[in-house]
Amino acid sequence: MPKPFQLDDFVLLVPANPEKQQRWIAKVGEKFSTAGGVFDLSELVGREPGCVLVSHLGEKIFAFRPTPSDWVLYAIKRQTQVTYPKEMGYILVRAGVTAGSKVIESGSGSGASTLMFAFAVGDSGHVFSYERRPEFSELARKNIERAGLSHRVSFKVKDIADGFDERDADIVFLDVREPWLYLRQALDGLANGGSLVVLVPTTNQVSETLRAIQNLPFVDIEVSELLLRHYKPNPERLRPEDRMVAHTAFLIFARKAQENSDSEKFKSDEGVEAWKGKETCQDFGC
Ligand SMILES: C[S@@+](CC[C@H](N)C(=O)[O-])C[C@H]1O[C@@H](n2cnc3c(N)ncnc32)[C@H](O)[C@@H]1O
Repeated sequence: MPKPFQLDDFVLLVPANPEKQQRWIAKVGEKFSTAGGVFDLSELVGREPGCVLVSHLGEKIFAFRPTPSDWVLYAIKRQTQVTYPKEMGYILVRAGVTAGSKVIESGSGSGASTLMFAFAVGDSGHVFSYERRPEFSELARKNIERAGLSHRVSFKVKDIADGFDERDADIVFLDVREPWLYLRQALDGLANGGSLVVLVPTTNQVSETLRAIQNLPFVDIEVSELLLRHYKPNPERLRPEDRMVAHTAFLIFARKAQENSDSEKFKSDEGVEAWKGKETCQDFGC
């Protein structure tokens, strides 16, 4: 049973006209102005998500509950490059971020990744977010506060060259310019078996990180890139949108092996051959 809107709930506003691409996040109870007129969002109290509001000019708008992706795309204030929902969706399931997870991340930047981690870890988990520039840490903190998730995040103004204060994290996420300099710190922060995730925009940074990672007990290494292509939702003339964001980031995943383990066996050609032998989707005709 969907929960009806209450005063001060956040609401995602979607124009009823499908030609209009804009989306907004506002609060139930506010008056909200668009080019299509003023909407009285107090009319939402007691109504279920998916309902329609009409402005004083007769324009229609739908009201939904914002998802983590909506928050990042339409609400947070940004002053840095941010992690996009496209990468984050995969990071969450690949690294296993779930309710109760302990996540360390750097840098906080604008707090986009912080926010998506905070949604995923729930009230039983926690995010420790490191940033060396106080103004960005403050911006991220405000963005998380606005989403009502401050209790799930600890912000630290610190250069991660000096290491993380926490131990036994399930995930360490590095979104910094030179992640290869901080792999030792990441290793120390991670629990055995925990996941390292690195996000970088260039292949040079991927290579540097891979070179450095080989010297540490990180195994099961994956390098990947995600491409997201939107389609025009017209059933008669179904085709991709004319423009797409061609590149956002590369991802590197690795798992922390116990430091005294013989991690070389995981990196050997034997391991690669074993992987090649796996069934592919084609084998199943899908
Ligand atoms: C691309 S932004 C991170 C964006 C963030 N993931 C988001 O989604 O909003 C990179 C941030 O890392 C910070 N940074 C870079 N090197 C750092 C270091 N050694 N210690 C702490 N923060 C660092 C930068 O100041 C910058 O704010």
